[in-house]
Parts: sequence; structure tokens; C-alpha cells
Amino acid sequence: MVDTSPARAYTSWWQARSDTWSRLEEASGQLAGTAVSGQPDSGLIATTSGLLDALAPVERYWAFPGPEVNRRMRDLFASASYGRFALLVARISRALVTESYRASTGSLPVDLDDEEDEPGEAHAGQARPYFEVLVVEPLTRAEEQALREEVHSWRRADDHFVYELVVVGSAEEAVIAARLNANLQACVIRRRFTPTAAQDLSSLADFADTSIARDLAGRSPDERTQILARRLARLRPELDLYLMSEIDVEDIAGHLSHHFRRVFHAQEGSLELHLSILAGVTARYRTPFFEALRHYSHRPTGVFHALPISQGKSILRSHWIGDMLGFYGLDIFLAETSATGGGLDSLLEPTGPLRQAQQLAAEAFGARRTFFVTNGTSTANKIVAQALITPGDIVLVDRNCHQSHHYGLMLAGAHVVYLDAYPLHEYSMYGGVPLREIKSRLLALRAAGKLDRVKLLMLTNCTFDGIVYDVERVMEECLAIKPDLVFLWDEAWFAFARFHPVYRPRTAMRAARTLAERLRSPEYRADYSRHMEEQAGDDEALLGRRLLPDPARARVRVYATQSTHKTLTSLRQGSMIHVHDQDFAHKVEESFHEAYMTHTSTSPNYQILASLDLGRRQASLEGYELVAKQIESAMRLREAIDDHPLLARYMHTLTTAELIPAEFRPSGLDRPLHGGLASMAQAWETDEFVLDPSRVSLYIGPTGIDGATFKREQLMDKFGIQINTTSRNTVLFMTNIGTTRSSVAYLIEVLVKIVRDLEEGLAEMSPAQQAAHARAVLRQTSPSAPLPDFSGFHPAFLDPAAGTPEGDVRRAFFLSYDDTNCEYLPADDAAQRLDAGQPVVSATFVTPYPPGFPVLVPGQLFSPQILEFMRSLDTPEVHGYDPQAGYRVHTAKALEIAQDERA
Ligand SMILES: Cc1ncc(COP(=O)(O)O)c(C=O)c1O
Repeated sequence: MVDTSPARAYTSWWQARSDTWSRLEEASGQLAGTAVSGQPDSGLIATTSGLLDALAPVERYWAFPGPEVNRRMRDLFASASYGRFALLVARISRALVTESYRASTGSLPVDLDDEEDEPGEAHAGQARPYFEVLVVEPLTRAEEQALREEVHSWRRADDHFVYELVVVGSAEEAVIAARLNANLQACVIRRRFTPTAAQDLSSLADFADTSIARDLAGRSPDERTQILARRLARLRPELDLYLMSEIDVEDIAGHLSHHFRRVFHAQEGSLELHLSILAGVTARYRTPFFEALRHYSHRPTGVFHALPISQGKSILRSHWIGDMLGFYGLDIFLAETSATGGGLDSLLEPTGPLRQAQQLAAEAFGARRTFFVTNGTSTANKIVAQALITPGDIVLVDRNCHQSHHYGLMLAGAHVVYLDAYPLHEYSMYGGVPLREIKSRLLALRAAGKLDRVKLLMLTNCTFDGIVYDVERVMEECLAIKPDLVFLWDEAWFAFARFHPVYRPRTAMRAARTLAERLRSPEYRADYSRHMEEQAGDDEALLGRRLLPDPARARVRVYATQSTHKTLTSLRQGSMIHVHDQDFAHKVEESFHEAYMTHTSTSPNYQILASLDLGRRQASLEGYELVAKQIESAMRLREAIDDHPLLARYMHTLTTAELIPAEFRPSGLDRPLHGGLASMAQAWETDEFVLDPSRVSLYIGPTGIDGATFKREQLMDKFGIQINTTSRNTVLFMTNIGTTRSSVAYLIEVLVKIVRDLEEGLAEMSPAQQAAHARAVLRQTSPSAPLPDFSGFHPAFLDPAAGTPEGDVRRAFFLSYDDTNCEYLPADDAAQRLDAGQPVVSATFVTPYPPGFPVLVPGQLFSPQILEFMRSLDTPEVHGYDPQAGYRVHTAKALEIAQDERA
């Protein structure tokens, strides 16, 4: 029985398309079978017809199988030639599934006249990277065919790439094509395109741009072209845009929007355009450092300095570690070198291929400058902190940020104001830091006359659990209070976000660019003058108001650190620092260089650097496709869990409404991700926080198993499924660009097995065991000890002159280097001291994992809430706490002396 329910498309048509083709293949095969007996099944005819109708509106946006083949397929069906129809459908479907159509070099692999031919396979050996080019121009069928033939005629055997055309006549369809078709790498716009499509697009409403036709109405062809180019660039900035015009190319070239790579005269043929299209893709395909390393690795060299592993020399002659070569292969050792010349480059002072690779990365990630880092974002964060902070500067930071920030701030001598994120007590997790909290801290510092010392705001976007900030809004309102505030967005988990149009506006680099452009625009300046009076008032009024920065004073100074290795292709530890800082060259460049030198090895790993170069190539050529597929996989994972009757009794995936309180969601959407692309986009445009769909938090309270045990004993030990983090009653599944449909299916299978085993176990339990299980369930499903907010610093580490909360963590940290300043205190003794009104002050960072943020930092006061929270934790791993000896705290004497010195 063929599944006839419509395939669901959440944010892309990728899975829905392949599912629909597979169903069509199945239905057409069965139909052909019934037709042989002379009695084609009418139910199957209806099913097949329905599937063809579902495909019809979307197929025009892909070059394969293309309009001719699609027409041929429909004709065969209409003329009841079911056998030939089924054969053709099977060939198309197989070519789509195996992607063999990409290996085509001449005609498309489904040959209409030779249905015996096996499609694609004949060409598979000659695979060159394949892409598609969108042509936006109303063409007749004959004109379209002629254009395809002309483009084919320019192909040469030594071209590096091969491409096919997708032709649409209108701006509306161009936007849909850009959203649906991830194979597109370039777009050629002819000024004759129409604003609206000739055909009904209602079935693709989720992928349509409802405003474009309206925005184009009444505009000149030039203006329309510019508007369309801007829209396409916003959706897919990596697409190379070309303009074809029959008039005034010289004039147009002079005022061409920067979105176009080039303009061509229509009558001058398409060869130049063809070559430019290939050159555009070649530019993104280039990987200067990887190529230099590969080239170098093939040169015979004598090694008379360190690195005996270079060219595998120390292994090749070894009697004992020969298996190392067998496992890794020779190439990696041929590429092991410490040379910085001979075509290679120095990471500390790059002038050649590394510099170019970083420039290409800056373009791909929308940064002004990009720096590669070979020791992860842990190091990237310390570099940025040291580059920007001078001792005594005040820094605002999310207390739940990664430990590298805490260590970085301590080393740099920052005076730290810890910000509290909103808590999710039910799941023992934190969300993000509300904008109101950030503004109130800044306003308090302003009231205390300390704004000039405030340097930096550091936030994690997105958080481990997938909470995403409205980056532009946060920066905008903060700049209204402190116009030169610098921002560091820790995007350790968010490098991929650049490559999807819904995510992109919430990345640091895009938000910085948009904000800088807005602040420069005359419209903004006019808007600011109109609302200038509203920027003053008492703090309470300012907290409730949307603040606008003064365009004459605000500086856009933004840094992002990304673990490329976490979400894109790179060897472990490959990270990048992206910079959009208007004052970088004259204020930061030198200190940045010093900070980079402080933290970077003089023997950086070339394989990591080359993999960053390749990861950038991949992201700029197929990032959109990979991320769209990843989101689709994550949504299907959610759906498969929540719709499964057995699983639903014990677990569910946490929704946006469960992870983000309503006050932060003006859109009012509880489950925007389930509503498809348009509803997701709506929430992402308006809400203070949104949920990254690629992260799936599974609530497992009703199983009675805690998150850590579920991860270790169930997922890992029994089924080899690795996950990163858990909370008391949740486990987090992160999808990534490598997640396959099969791995999602395996996970579902495993969850079902776990729940079946659980049910079987329950059925066989004694009454006493059942009671114990019921207690475990109650414990997992009832609120635990509330998550503790940051309690404050001891006065010895505060500014004695003011009532502001910033603390000198470095002073507190190094005070403990003298053992006589510290003692160990068991938890009960700490509680007794608090009861007696005596301060207890941590000498170290105390970080339970999970959740992974420091519950105590050096110099921080203990509180009853902290002790209760620590007592309630059943995590085996608590860094900075010795279960035998207790907490390491400052002695009263040391605190007294430190406080006297402070005063
Ligand atoms: C938010 C955040 N920042 C930084 C890091 C450190 O990144 P890396 O592992 O690349 O050093 C992590 C690691 O988990 C993280 O979660």
C-alpha cells in the first residue's frame, strides 16, 4: 500500500521531495503491475495522479529532471502508457536518490529516446562538481531550450565544474527557487522579468515572499532589478548574481548594486557570462592553504630540524609503530611540516596562503577580518578577552558562559559583572540573559558614574540548549546607553547559522553589518531625531522602552568566536574569530596581535588549518543545503518522537513555549518550528529569544531515569549513541550537518527499545521496586532545588567606593595561590557558618558538569541556595570541589587583609 499522505515540508522541500518521488516510484510500479493484467487499478491511478500534482508546482525549480522530462513523464501517464511511465519515474527517482544526475556532462541522464539506457551511471566516472544556475527571464519553451543548448555548447572537457539551468519568469518564482533549490550557485537576472508568477503558487506559500510583488509594483526595470538582487542576496548571499541587459550596460555598470558580480550585454552572447559563472564558483572553491599544503607535501625535502614525523620518516623505519601509518595513511604525514616558507605560511604573521584563506573565510562568514585558531574556541575566547580588556575594565558576562570566558576574564584582570539568565527550574537549565537585565546593569553602572570603565558585553549565542538571542536588538539598545560598548558573541555552537536565511540575521556578523548600515542611513538619523527625547528619562522608564543609539556616537564593535569543528567541517580544535569592529585598525589590532601571540602555539597544527580552509569552502558552496537538511532532520526527529504512541508516554521534545517564557515571545507562537518556514521566520523576526530547531531537548522525567544515567547507561553503553549534555531530567540531541536520515531513524529505534525494556522491567517489578520507581519518577518530574542566581562578591573584591557589583576575580583567584590564605570546608560546616552570619567565600571556580557553568567563582559569597543546589545535584563530576575535604574557601584572616588593602 502506497503512503498517500502529503509529505511534510518544514523549512525545505528536500525530504518532502525525495519522499514524494519515492512514493511515486512505488505507486507507478504497482500501477504498471496492474496494467499488465489489462486492469489498471483505479485507486492507484488516483494516487499516482495526486503525487504528480504534488510534485508539479515544485519541480520547475530544479534543473533535474527538467521541464522536458517532466512533460514526457506526464504525457506517458496521461496516455496510460503505465509501463514506460513507471520505468521513467524509477529512473528519475533513482537518479535523485543516488544523485547520479550530478555526474551528467552532456544531456540529462534520463534519455527520452532510449529508455533502456541506465541513467546517470554511464557518466558517473567523470564526476565534476555540479551546480545549477537560475535564469530569471520569461522565456518560451523554444527559447529556453535554445538557451540550454547554447550553454551546453560552451562546455569544455577541462572545465572544473558543470552546470545546468533553471529558468523562471518572475521575481516571485526567483525567490522560491532560491529557497528551494540548494544546487543554485549563481543567478542571471534579465531586466524583463515580471514581478508576479503566471501560475498559482499557493501550494508553496511557505516559501514565497509575500511582499516582493508589492514592492516591485510601479518601479522602473532598474529599480526592480536592484530590489530583486537585494532580496536574493539577503536569502543566499553566497549566490553570484549577474545582470543581463539589452540596453545601456555601460551606464548600468556605473551604478550597479554591489550585489552583482558583473553586467553583460544580452546580444553579445553568453560565452563571457558562462566563463564568469565558472570563475565565480572557482573563487569560492579555492582553498589556498589546503592547496599549498598539498603541493608542499609532494615535494621531496630533507628534514634537518624538529618534527621527525614529517613525511612519515620516524614511522616508516619503526619496528613498533608501523600500524600508525596503516591507520592514518601516508598523506597526513607527508603534510606534516613545520615549514613556513616554500609556499606555506606562518599563522603568527600570515602573508601568503593562510592570509588568503582567512580572507576567504571573512567573506564567507560576512566578517571584516577573520583569524584561524588551532586550539578551539576556548583559546579564541581568551584571545579576544585579552585583546580588548585592560586590567580594571568592567565586563558584563553571562554567568553561565563557557569556562574559557571566566578564565580569560580572570587572566585579563577584568572586573566582572555577572548577568543572570532566566532559569528553567523544571528542567534545571538556564535560558538566555534578558535584555532588561543587561540594560538595568548598564544603567546602574551609568548612575554610579562608571560607564567609562565598561568595556565589553559577552554572551553565548546560541546557548548549549539552543536559546538564540535577538543579537541586533541587544546591541542596538546597549549602544543607546554606552555608545562604544564592545560585544563578544560566543558562537561556539553557531558557525553553521550563517548559512541559513532565517538564522543569519541573528548571527553576530550579520547583525553588526545590518546595524552599521542602519546607523549610517539618513532614514535612521531622521528617526533618531524624532525619538531623541525618548532616550532620556528615569531608569525604570528606559528599561521599558526600546532605546535607539545616537548615530553620531555609536560605534559598531563586534567579535564572534566559533568552534568551526563543532558545527561545520573541521578537525577538532579548528575555530575562527570573526571581527566587525569599526575601530579595529587603530584601537585593537596591536593588542589583538599580542593576545594572539600569547595564546597561540608557535607550532600550529597545519592539518587543522587546512581543514578550516576546506570547511569554509564547503560552507560557502553547500552550507545552505547542509543546514536546511539538518533542520529538516531535526524536525522529523521531533515529530517521530512526539507522534510515537509508546514514546509519548515517557518522553517528549521540549517546545519553544516550554523553553522560552511567553514574556520573551511577542509573536505568541508556542511551537513556531512546527508551523513551517513562515512561522519560524515570524518568530525569528520578532521574539526576544527563539529556539534553534537543530537542537532537540528530550524531556525524560516520566522514565524515572536521570539525564546523566540515561546518557551513560542507556544511550552510550547499550547502543553507542553519543550525546553531549544532559540535565536532571532532559537529554540534548544535537543534529549537525552530518546527521543522516538513517541516524535519526536509528535514534528513534533505540528510544523505542529503551522504553520497551523499561515497560517490561516495570511489569516484572515487585511492589517495593514499583514504589521505588514511582518515587524516582516523582523526583524527576517535580521541581528540584531552584537554580541559584549569582550571589555577589565579597567586599574584599569589590570597588569600595561604590555599590556596583563588579568583582576583581583575578585578585580573588591569585589570593588562593598562597595556601595559608585558604582552607577546606565541608558543606555542613559552610552551612553552619552561613547560619552564624559569617561570610563563606570561594577560592576557586566550582563547576558541576552538567550543567557546566561555575556555581561559584573565586571571590564569590556562598549562599544557602547555592549549598542547597549543590546538595541536590547527583552529578558525579564537580570541578573545583573535593567531596572528601569540601569546598576550598578563603580564610577569614585572608579576607580581612584583602579588604583592608582594598580600602
Ligand atoms: C559556549 C562555548 N564556548 C566555548 C567552548 C569551547 O570551545 P572549544 O571546544 O572549541 O574549545 C564551548 C565548548 O563546549 C562552549 O560550549
